[in-house]
Order: sequence, then C-alpha cells, then structure tokens
Amino acid sequence: MTKRKPIRKAVFPVAGLGTRFLPATKAIPKEMLPIIDRPLIQYAVDEAREAGIEEMIFVTGRGKTSIIEHFDIAFELETTMRERNKDLSILAPTQATPGDIIAVRQQVPLGLGHAIWCARAIVGDEPFAIFLPDELMIARNDGAGGCMKQMVEAYNEVGGNLISVLEVPEEEVSSYGVIAPGKRSGALTEVTGLVEKPRREDAPSNLILSGRYILQPEVMRVLEAQEKGAGGEIQLTDAMAKMIGTQPFHAVTFQGKRYDCGSKTGFVEATLAIALEREDMAEEVRAIAKRLLGDS
Ligand code: G1P
Repeated sequence: MTKRKPIRKAVFPVAGLGTRFLPATKAIPKEMLPIIDRPLIQYAVDEAREAGIEEMIFVTGRGKTSIIEHFDIAFELETTMRERNKDLSILAPTQATPGDIIAVRQQVPLGLGHAIWCARAIVGDEPFAIFLPDELMIARNDGAGGCMKQMVEAYNEVGGNLISVLEVPEEEVSSYGVIAPGKRSGALTEVTGLVEKPRREDAPSNLILSGRYILQPEVMRVLEAQEKGAGGEIQLTDAMAKMIGTQPFHAVTFQGKRYDCGSKTGFVEATLAIALEREDMAEEVRAIAKRLLGDS
C-alpha cells in the first residue's frame, strides 16, 4: 500500500437557508436543529473526527454564527457549571484545538459547487473531505466505524476521489446526484459517470450520492469555471464528472444507516431510530412508541 496524503481537512457547506424547516429555521440554522440532544452539525463533526480529520471548514452565511459558537469555549456556562460541580465532559465534543474551526462565507447562494469553491484558499493543495450535514450517517455496532472512516480506509487503498453511495427506489433518483457504476469489488464501485438530478428515465442507476466525499484539490480548478448545471446552480456533481478519467474515481457503499434529515419525516425517523438505540432512553421511548401506535 503506497502512502497517501492524509485527509486532514473537511468542508461543511452550511450556508443554506433551510426553508423546508421554516419557521423553526427563521432565526437558527437548520444545522443546529437537534436530534435528541446533539445538533445535526455535531453528528457530522464527530464523524469527521472519528475518521482522523482535524480541521473543520464551515462554509457559512448570514445568521449562521451559532454553528461556530457551538464549537467554541462557552466561558460563562463552563465557569458556572464548574462552580456548581457539574460534569463538563458532556461539552467535550463541542471543543476543538484552537485554530481548527475555520469559517468562510458564501455570500451568494449559487449552488453546492460554489459553496465548496469558497473554501479553496483554506483547502489549498491537499485532498479533502466534504460532509453534507443533512445526511445523517450512523455507524453499526460492529466496529466498522462511521461513513467517513470507511471512506478514508478505502482511500488509503485506492487513492483518488471517493464518494459515498446508496441505493434508493427508482422513483427517488431525480432528487439526487446519481452514478454510472463500473466494476464492483466489495464495498467499492468504479464510477464511470455522474449526473445531477436526472429524470428517472435518464438515470444511469439507482445509486445516489449520499453526502460524503473525498476529493482531490484539482476539483477546485474545475469549479473555477463556475458553469451552471441542474436547477441553474453550480453543481459539485458536474465538476466531479469532469474529473472522471483523469484520476481514479470510486464509490463506497456505506455499511451502516443513513437518515435524510433534509426532510421532515426523515428527521422524525432519525430522532426515533437514534432514541431507540440509546441506552439512556431506549426502553422508555419504545414504550412511548408502542402506546402512541396503540399497540401495547
Ligand atoms: C446535494 C447534491 C446531490 C446529493 C444530495 C445528497 O443535493 O447535489 O448530488 O445526492 O445533496 O443529499 P441537494 O440535496 O443539495 O439538492
């Protein structure tokens, strides 16, 4: 196995307006909505850290400052908790090494590709990860780890560019980026084509991009052209499609569970599923769910 450049940086595009969750998201970012007691963004950052990533780059916009505050020291809160002999370990995941939380602004909402391009100066000349925090990826209890950890392991084998994929029913493909699959070996599939939000009849497969990427820095050069794609937006999928053939490109099928927290029902599903897995509340939540379903 050749030594690859390690994946040290992750970009989190979090400038979206979150209109699907209004009015909840009028004054707070969508990424700060909690699944039980952790905001969505925390799940993504935890997954990044588990994969060995140190630098978190948030591509933010107006009204998104609380995301950055969340990963800062909360002096008054911590002092008061200490005075009251409260356990501060609960806050540990919200703290970072000074300098490792970085924010850049996307002043205009021109699409996901544009958001990623806004981080080009911080990413520099290194391969980097991307997390779409709406996509909540939960590891199984079998030690295989989270989605990005599995992707980094695959990256150490094959290098190049990697995207996470999963199968959806055919009628859902037009909401996502879709891959044209090539040769398959275990959880790895060669990517021979990529298309953003195709019509169902034009989709090359039912394998969709599920919000996790490891990309080579050359993608920033491609994004520089700022060409518009599906929905009139600058699409990351289109930029990646241009790199196929010039660099290795693979899809990783995540061994674990995925919840689409960009939709309200997906959010409810995630909340319930995670509550049913948590030792501190599973039993009680199961009883509540049974009662609500009239099934006790
Ligand atoms: C984005 C990507 C798409 C991907 C999806 C995953 O779309 O452009 O390729 O499949 O995230 O959630 P969006 O949900 O921003 O429309």
